Amino acid sequence: MLSTQTQIAGFSFDNCLMNAAGVACMTIEELEEVKNSAAGTFVTKTATLQARAGNPEPRYQDVPLGSINSMGLPNHGLDYYLEYLLDLQKTESNRTFFLSLVGLSLEETHILLKKVQDSNFKGLTELNLSCPNVPGKPQIAYDFEATEKILSEVFAYFTKPLGIKLPPYFDMAHFDQAAAIFNKFPLSFVNCVNSIGNGLYIDDETVVIRPKNGFGGIGGEYIKPTALANVHAFYQRLNPTIQIIGTGGVLTGRDAFEHILCGASMVQVGTTLHKEGVGAFERITEELKAIMLEKGYESIEDFRGKLNYLD
Ligand code: DHB
Repeated sequence: MLSTQTQIAGFSFDNCLMNAAGVACMTIEELEEVKNSAAGTFVTKTATLQARAGNPEPRYQDVPLGSINSMGLPNHGLDYYLEYLLDLQKTESNRTFFLSLVGLSLEETHILLKKVQDSNFKGLTELNLSCPNVPGKPQIAYDFEATEKILSEVFAYFTKPLGIKLPPYFDMAHFDQAAAIFNKFPLSFVNCVNSIGNGLYIDDETVVIRPKNGFGGIGGEYIKPTALANVHAFYQRLNPTIQIIGTGGVLTGRDAFEHILCGASMVQVGTTLHKEGVGAFERITEELKAIMLEKGYESIEDFRGKLNYLD
């Protein structure tokens, strides 16, 4: 019986497709829509301690080959998402969901993670080390010293399953250095990739989003080769106990298949979900299953990570 089920950190999911943080996950209404779709689970919008309005609009634009955004972390604050997830644990006790968070400072990140640690939350936590859009706040994951410091401090008290959302890296030496750091910690997963930061899209003579004079994170078709490279580079380098979530450029079942072939155990959909709505999950799942059927694969474990090389 052909299935796209998967496991992360020992939790089972009926489908390996889910939303990418930032899309369809700001409000409980949006999260309910993803939960009730063909997606295997959802991740919440990256939460800060206090609610935030985010950057001025327009701040997200779909474009022909993808999207550009500079949202600026609009969210309802950690308590909104945590309380919803604690409620869901009662009514959806056989499912597991992801909570995304990051503080605006190191101190705030610790406050957030200690709240989660001290709560009854039983799901997976994703620490976002890769938000490119808050003016004056560089991406943590491009600073390897800061990354190692935050992880060593966090794992001194955080004992629940934790993963990190990463930006794309573009250099083999960076893959080596980043993986050597991540391998020092009991991470459940790394999620590759967040948007390619600070691109610029121009329509006629003008940018298409207001914040930062039009600079914003790029998603969609533009980023699939970079996303696949990051998934596979970390698949090759990380301890097998650290699973990979593949995100970036998933428009079709074929794209999801390629992420899994590169080593992903779960695949997230961002730009396509924004363009198409939650019906994308059913379509992409059916396309993925058709490829598996044709190739004789019954589960994603039959081909996960089994990318072929030329000699
Ligand atoms: C935002 C964008 C990101 O890519 C991210 O990881 C977190 C937040 C944002 O602009 O809201």
